[in-house]
Amino acid sequence: EKVSLNGEILNTQEAKISVFDRGFLFGDGIYEVMIQLNGKLFHEQAHLDRMKYSLQEIDLNYDVNQLKDKVKELLKANDLIGIDCLIYMQITRGTAPRKHSFPIDIEPTCLLYALPKEFPKINNSSYNVVTQNDFRWTKCHIKMTSLLGNVLANQFAAENDAYETLLIRAGIFTEASHCNVFFVKKGVVYTHPANEFILNGITRQLVVKLCNDLNIELREEGYPVNLIEEIDEAFLTGTTTQVGVIGKIDNQVLPNRESAGPITKRLQQAFSELL
Ligand code: PDD
Repeated sequence: EKVSLNGEILNTQEAKISVFDRGFLFGDGIYEVMIQLNGKLFHEQAHLDRMKYSLQEIDLNYDVNQLKDKVKELLKANDLIGIDCLIYMQITRGTAPRKHSFPIDIEPTCLLYALPKEFPKINNSSYNVVTQNDFRWTKCHIKMTSLLGNVLANQFAAENDAYETLLIRAGIFTEASHCNVFFVKKGVVYTHPANEFILNGITRQLVVKLCNDLNIELREEGYPVNLIEEIDEAFLTGTTTQVGVIGKIDNQVLPNRESAGPITKRLQQAFSELL
């Protein structure tokens, strides 16, 4: 298995970064996760555009256009051309003696890896989720490698036999530790607006578009926690989860636990046609 590190293809064991890399010391970096499915990179440009945006948001100067060739080279080196797989890309600010402010004139560190992974045509899982206060900062729109908040939130799920933790800020659901979240109530779909409190998922954006295409009423409004008992359907979206049914939130079993509710089912079907 080979990775791409600063433009070089290396065996995983040979790929080394400095202990003074700012990604390691500060989590000072940006990443993306995308998939290759049915022989094509799924919305590669959207992932690269989001990476460019995240890099700009932290003033990290790196030309994302060079990643396309690097991804191709990586897939070739791993015999993954045309094979379903997951691709991880990360740019950190680079290596320099530790100080908080940005060092001048250092080269960013670029790491890419790819792992074969199979994806179902439709995700038939029904996930249990738990809830927790959204204790993260207010720049959640940046896809940064400092993921401790998300790690702790996901660990809370793991410790409670759940797949995800839904995060709550000021009485409304924002997103989950590595997915966005949607709720359906009386035929209307709700999801948090794309602002600084969530990562604007590529899958989220596709589902928003599908709602419009299918004439399903969608409101980009955070769903309030106090209306939790009125939820008819709920689902998670994310690159690896696709569109995944939520069957239970804390102790509350949702009506669509055993199989996707009608709106979720339509969206799952429409989403699978994009793949
Ligand atoms: N997670 N929200 C958060 C906090 C995320 O980390 C992710 C993605 C999403 C969904 O975004 P997208 O649909 O573009 O994958 C929402 C990736 C997969 C990860 O960290 O592994």
